[in-house]
Amino acid sequence: MKMLFHGIDLVECSRIEKMLSKHGDHFTTKIYTEAELAYANKHRNPVERLAGRFAVKEAVLKMIGTGLREKINWTDVETINNVDGQPQINLYNRAKELTEQLGIDQISVSITHAAGLAIASAVALSK
Ligand SMILES: CC(C)(COP(=O)(O)OP(=O)(O)OC[C@H]1O[C@@H](n2cnc3c(N)ncnc32)[C@H](O)[C@@H]1OP(=O)(O)O)[C@@H](O)C(=O)NCCC(=O)NCCS
Repeated sequence: MKMLFHGIDLVECSRIEKMLSKHGDHFTTKIYTEAELAYANKHRNPVERLAGRFAVKEAVLKMIGTGLREKINWTDVETINNVDGQPQINLYNRAKELTEQLGIDQISVSITHAAGLAIASAVALSK
């Protein structure tokens, strides 16, 4: 496979915590899919998981190169963990269309969280 694009992002967990206490469900349903919320809520520290998923969304937007101006919704970029725990990306709507236009066949992401921070990196690959 050939590497085409890369994006990276860092999120402070305290920023997510603030959004949760200020906007509650309005924030979570605007940003996260049901599967992402279910995954986060399984963990002792859901905020860390939500911060990681937010970082993935921003990393993928950077990887695509357009930011949110192309009418991509936050929920159009979904992180699902496979049976080994490895994060996998599902794209929907405009995010899916744009990656297809860019010739992206696969996206590889990696997440880490420590010391109140979450970092995600996203790499676009073509066959
Ligand atoms: C997978 C592993 C590397 C994660 O590292 P970690 O330092 O525990 O935690 P990090 O915060 O850096 O990373 C967590 C993220 O790793 C990702 N991850 C989990 N399992 C993964 C796997 N099999 N492959 C790739 N990424 C994985 C997930 O995205 C997770 O974040 P998420 O739950 O929000 O999606 C670690 O759990 C592991 O299996 N290490 C193997 C060595 C070991 O067992 N060490 C423990 C004794 S020192």
